Amino acid sequence: MRRKLKVRCAIPSQEAAGGMEYKLFDVEVEGEVTVLDVLKMLYCEKDERIAFHSFCGQGLCAGCMVELNGRRVLSCVTLASDRMEIKPILD
Ligand code: FES
Repeated sequence: MRRKLKVRCAIPSQEAAGGMEYKLFDVEVEGEVTVLDVLKMLYCEKDERIAFHSFCGQGLCAGCMVELNGRRVLSCVTLASDRMEIKPILD
């Protein structure tokens, strides 16, 4: 089943205070997808400035950790939902 998600994503910006600006995206996905899948879609289809890491893709290395709606999660094993706010872990 196709569904539309609204995603607010932090993007590196030299002009913005704190080095990040937020941008709102509409994303259409098919079935259940992970937060990492959404980040890859945003990077490939919407904005190449979106920065993220992924390595194992199986929840083992923690390389894909992001802050999702104020909580740290592994993006490769966390299912995407509507109204996500995603930003990188900066510490
Ligand atoms: S890519 Fe390794 S835990 Fe997500």
